[in-house]
Order: sequence, then C-alpha cells, then structure tokens
Amino acid sequence: MTIHEPVLLREVLLYLDPRPGQNFIDCTFGGGGHALALLAKVRPGGQVIGIDLDERAIENFGRKAPGLILVNDNYKNIRKIILDKKDELGRNDKISGVLLDLGLSSDQLGSGDRGFSFQAKEFLDLRFSKVSQPVSASDMLRTASEQELVDIFKNYGEERLARPIAKKIIAHRVVDNHAFDSSTLASLVADIYKKFYKRPSKKHPATKVFQALRIAVNDEYGNIRSGLSNSAELLSSGGRLAVISFHSGEDRIVKNFFRDQAKLGRLKIITKKPIAATEEESTKNSRSRSAKLRVAEKV
Ligand SMILES: C[S@@+](CC[C@H](N)C(=O)[O-])C[C@H]1O[C@@H](n2cnc3c(N)ncnc32)[C@H](O)[C@@H]1O
Repeated sequence: MTIHEPVLLREVLLYLDPRPGQNFIDCTFGGGGHALALLAKVRPGGQVIGIDLDERAIENFGRKAPGLILVNDNYKNIRKIILDKKDELGRNDKISGVLLDLGLSSDQLGSGDRGFSFQAKEFLDLRFSKVSQPVSASDMLRTASEQELVDIFKNYGEERLARPIAKKIIAHRVVDNHAFDSSTLASLVADIYKKFYKRPSKKHPATKVFQALRIAVNDEYGNIRSGLSNSAELLSSGGRLAVISFHSGEDRIVKNFFRDQAKLGRLKIITKKPIAATEEESTKNSRSRSAKLRVAEKV
C-alpha cells in the first residue's frame, strides 16, 4: 500500500492552531496524516473526528488512537455525524476547526482495482464508495448520451476536446460493449489528442477526462458545496475552516463560498490569497504542486 503524504501539513497546523482540549473534524481522513497531526496537538482532552466516504480508508487505518473517532460517511452529512457522536464528544462538544483535503489519496490511486490510475488496466470504477454510490464510471460511459458526456468533460474537466472524445467513446461502445477499463479510456482519449495536437503534452492527455468522470460519479461538487455550508454552521465562533483544493473547479467553489459568507458577515477570510506549497515540499511531494489552501474563520 502507498503511504499518503499529507500536503501543506505545516500550514494547516499553523492556520488551524490546534491546542490541548480542543475538538477538530477532518472531513477527508484518507491515510490519517492530517488527522493524526491534529490529534497530537489537541491531546490531552481534545478529540478529532475523522470522516471518510471510502470504507477502505477507514478499514486500512485499522488502529485505535485515544481521542480519535472514525466515521465512514459522506462529509456532506457532517451535522448529522456530529449529532450522532454527541455522547462520545461529551460535555466539551465545541468544534474549533474543520479540515477538507479534497480529491483522492495516494492509497486510492495505487489501489490497483478501482480505475483511478490510467497507467494500469483496471475496471473503470472511480467511486469513493461502492456502498453509497450505485453508478460506476464504466456504467456512466456505457449509458450516457453524447451530449451528457460532452457536458461532463467540459463542466468538470474544462476539456477542450470534449465533443470529439465523446464521439470516440460512443463509437467504441458500438463495436465493444464490455465494461470500460482505465487503459482503454486513456488510449481512446490519447488517440483524439494525437489527431488534434502535433506535440505531446506534459500531462497525460486523459488527465482531465478522468478528473471529470470522477467528479461526476461521486457528485464531488455537490458534496463540497453542502460540506462547506454545513461545516460553517457547526463551527464554534472563532473556529476555522481550512480547505485544500487541487484544481481550479474546486478552488472556485471554495473561493466563492468564502466570499459570499464574508459578505453576509458569517465568515472572515483569513487567507486573502490561497497558500501554495513551498518549493521544498513541491520537490519532495509532486501532489502538493497544485494544492491551494484557503482558510476562513467563523464570526
Ligand atoms: C486527499 S485524500 C485525504 C488525505 C488525508 N488528508 C491524509 O493526510 O491522509 C481525500 C480523501 O477524501 C475522501 N473523500 C472524498 N470525498 C468525500 C466525501 N464526500 N466525504 C468523505 N470523504 C470523502 C476520499 O475517499 C479520500 O480518502
């Protein structure tokens, strides 16, 4: 199993400023890197609630730590989750900070059977949870209309070749009606790129299409919107909401949410500009290169 290296960890700790006795929620527990660092700072007395939609992330962690409460659920349900955990939190139920570290973890990318990696031949699943999400990316590609595919690739991937890629997928499924796997999709997209661009791009040409499908399959933008507004509701005043995003679509939602809440006088924006990884971190951990951290404080 790949070890997920938490991004912008020093900066998250600096802005959330966890202290002994405080409670924090890590909405995207993953491999637990951020959650455990927060936990070390809030002990004794404080607790960290770690949420992950992926049942495997919770199972893989596989240990108990004093003060760590793990929940397998969608962070959009954060208010209900906290209500359910009221007894475990006890009398000290104030929430001093919430963290969302969006996207997928290195464990998921390297899992070998979920389609997240387009370098390998894996069933094109792309779901964070098979239990709560019935439709895989392969199902989506086999049933969506050309226009639906174009909308997904454009809206969630800002893919300029959305139309020819959608046409290629539809043509492929007429001759081969098997489930899609990751390398087949990657090579269909690469064929289209070769037709339109003479020079190969630095990133794999299928990067945006995979991102778009993952967002659609998991309703990621819907989750982020609900997760942000529910998190802002349950924070104690003075508590902080920190969000790490990895591409412009995610960052735009966070930026607009903070701006709208600041106008209503509910949140104060702490990071006027998003915080990026230092050169040192970018060199060590390539995932951190596109990371942006925004922080706001409950008024
Ligand atoms: C970038 S990883 C988090 C890594 C983590 N911060 C660490 O240090 O290991 C994002 C995690 O969020 C989870 N996730 C994605 N959408 C979610 C949702 N709506 N609710 C809960 N967890 C979600 C994914 O399953 C993944 O494990």
